[in-house]
Amino acid sequence: MKVLFKNIKELLQIRDENTRFVSGKAMNELPTIKDAFLLVKNDVIYDFGPMKDCPDEAVDHVVDATGKMVLPTWCDSHTHLVYAGQREGEFVDKINGLSYQEIAEKGGGILNSAKQVQNISESELYKQTKTRLDEVIALGTGAVEIKSGYGLTLESELKMLSVIKRLKENHQIPIKATFLGAHAVPEEYKNNKAGYVDHIIKEMIPLVAEAKLADFVDVFCEKGYFTVEDTNRILEAGKLHGLQAKIHVNQFNSIGGVQAGVKQKALSVDHLEVMKYEDIVVLEKSKTMPVALPGCSFFLSIPFAPGRKMIDAGLPLALATDYNPGSSPSGNMNFVVSAACVKMKLTPEEAINAATINGAYAMGLEHKVGSITKGKQANLILTKAISSYHFIPYSFGNHQIERVYLNGVEVV
Ligand code: NIG
Ligand code: FE
Repeated sequence: MKVLFKNIKELLQIRDENTRFVSGKAMNELPTIKDAFLLVKNDVIYDFGPMKDCPDEAVDHVVDATGKMVLPTWCDSHTHLVYAGQREGEFVDKINGLSYQEIAEKGGGILNSAKQVQNISESELYKQTKTRLDEVIALGTGAVEIKSGYGLTLESELKMLSVIKRLKENHQIPIKATFLGAHAVPEEYKNNKAGYVDHIIKEMIPLVAEAKLADFVDVFCEKGYFTVEDTNRILEAGKLHGLQAKIHVNQFNSIGGVQAGVKQKALSVDHLEVMKYEDIVVLEKSKTMPVALPGCSFFLSIPFAPGRKMIDAGLPLALATDYNPGSSPSGNMNFVVSAACVKMKLTPEEAINAATINGAYAMGLEHKVGSITKGKQANLILTKAISSYHFIPYSFGNHQIERVYLNGVEVV
């Protein structure tokens, strides 16, 4: 199957195959070609360049992109797409003044979602999740990481991971699965957190790894959840079983989670709303991708990760949605990109880099998606007719997507 996009006003995010991520000053560069063509052959980007070099060969489908732009689909490296029911009651509690922690203390929060996941069948959970995945694809997401962590029992964690496995099998987009048994301490272990950590290490991780149900391991390293010591123990167990770390750190407190992540060679450390100087310094010497989640900051009214500061310090940065029922009930990467510009002072170039190639790196998919590169999967956004790509973050709360292509096939 051959698809030719021609007369593209501007083709965005052109990279060679050696670019794994961009950091520091380079984040402010977004390589483009104006008046371009792009040829898709057999699911991948086969060729692209200026229109004057457009090949004159028979194709199955021509897309006239006059006035429009083409860019790689968004890479959302942090989501909790698998969940049951909603938590809009807590939303109202929050408006009325309760904090995230106070809601959790009165039985809301992660434990509320865990109850709902425990009481639902796998097929119903799959159905609810598939709807959300289709929705985010329509919003331009073309690669996604999905976590467990609302099961909190062996059976329910496996149920969540099995749902992710089925999504991987039935969807066109690359999906990575993360085991997040250490998302919260379940009710049964309320007075025995060490027992739950042991259960994760001794029973859950070996089984999950053996069944090949996860690519990564995650921990919510935070006061009231899991300590740095718990985190180190769990990540080491994950490593032993071939699961690289991607962890929740510094959402509310800086307690050493970033340092633990770097020490354990985490692929990413995510949230980072509260960052001390030493948290930034330790990342400078690492290959760990910092990931900011502006949707969560917006929804919980908590600080935004200091993205500007991190990039100015020379770090890379990725952006993700954190799509989940408690702290970010939205999987809209277009909003995330806008919020990063408005609230974190990223330039449009930095935000687009953070939401594509750097997001791909943060889930180990940079060889496959995240840029316009020959041989990469042809997961593409065709924008509406727009004056410049700055219009993408500028038009916040809206999106500029006319069509989404997965493997070169129009899906939206
Ligand atoms: O990434 N911070 C921990 N976990 C999720 C929120 C989970 C929830 O409230 O249901 C997050 O924000
Ligand atoms: Fe999260």
